[in-house]
Amino acid sequence: MTEIVPGAALTRAAHQLLPLLEQGQRIDAPALRIAMGAAFGGSDTDGAWDWKTAYDVCEGAAVLFLRKYGKALLRKAGSPAAALPLLTRIAGLQPSHTRRSEESEAFQQFSTPIPLGFAAATAAAITADDIVLEPSAGTGLLAALLLERMPNARITCLDASDGMLDEARARFAGDDRVDFVLADMATADLGGPWGVVMSALAIHHLEDAAKKALFAGVRGALTPGGLFVNAEQVLGPTPALEERYARRWLADVRAAGVPGDEIDRACERMRFDRCASVEDQLAWMRDAGLADVDCTFKSWRFAVLSGRA
Ligand SMILES: C[S@@+](CC[C@H](N)C(=O)[O-])C[C@H]1O[C@@H](n2cnc3c(N)ncnc32)[C@H](O)[C@@H]1O
Repeated sequence: MTEIVPGAALTRAAHQLLPLLEQGQRIDAPALRIAMGAAFGGSDTDGAWDWKTAYDVCEGAAVLFLRKYGKALLRKAGSPAAALPLLTRIAGLQPSHTRRSEESEAFQQFSTPIPLGFAAATAAAITADDIVLEPSAGTGLLAALLLERMPNARITCLDASDGMLDEARARFAGDDRVDFVLADMATADLGGPWGVVMSALAIHHLEDAAKKALFAGVRGALTPGGLFVNAEQVLGPTPALEERYARRWLADVRAAGVPGDEIDRACERMRFDRCASVEDQLAWMRDAGLADVDCTFKSWRFAVLSGRA
């Protein structure tokens, strides 16, 4: 019997799904089952694979797509903002996560949406051999996007969830550019010095006081001139704008075909978010001693904030 190596099977399944994305076709459940069955040598009911792994494979296919077409796409569009509609269309070809595990749901442990990850990776302007800390690295989707663009970079993936890190470990099995730390970013010694500290969709889980303390910790952990990038969901600057962001998000997820019960669960989870406005966070980053602080990308609720040590 052929031994199935999980990392290799993930890659094989992702490659099998890539042509669908190239043809602008949605990855639906039957296509996903076929690719997973072929790569893992069995079905989900046999226990050869599970749906959480299948969704990670879809992300892997999107990373392959960006590896192949990302640079050309960005060049053609002229800026990450102009590339966003196409990236959003690619993200829309991913299946909805109706079978995500309850643990993932409870801890909001989903990967960064691909358009935001791509914008963040572009904003980060990491040089080829930067040393990067990603607090809240989750399953490593953003780290994978970064390594696509900067193959000589080294990345430390920190996360408070061992389950998420396990997926990242599987994604980067045998890749000595990546290592892993299980820790709470709010209390951990961030180590360093790092050329880049980059976070995506995680700091909004912290209370504002903890955000400020984290920004100070990040400033202290960067090399002189090192870069902090925070790709985040932000609070509207006024109640009226917050309301507008919420309406816009709802319209977007409905248009993307996300089922109603999944939207309800997401709304429930979002009650625990502690989002802060762009302006507040930029001010806290300056207070922490960061320079050249800026919002380099924004699309409604999603923003990429950065500053240098
Ligand atoms: C939405 S995911 C984003 C994952 C990743 N940044 C990406 O781009 O795919 C949020 C991650 O933040 C992690 N997280 C939340 N609070 C954390 C904390 N205090 N310390 C470390 N990680 C945390 C969660 O476990 C989860 O993996």
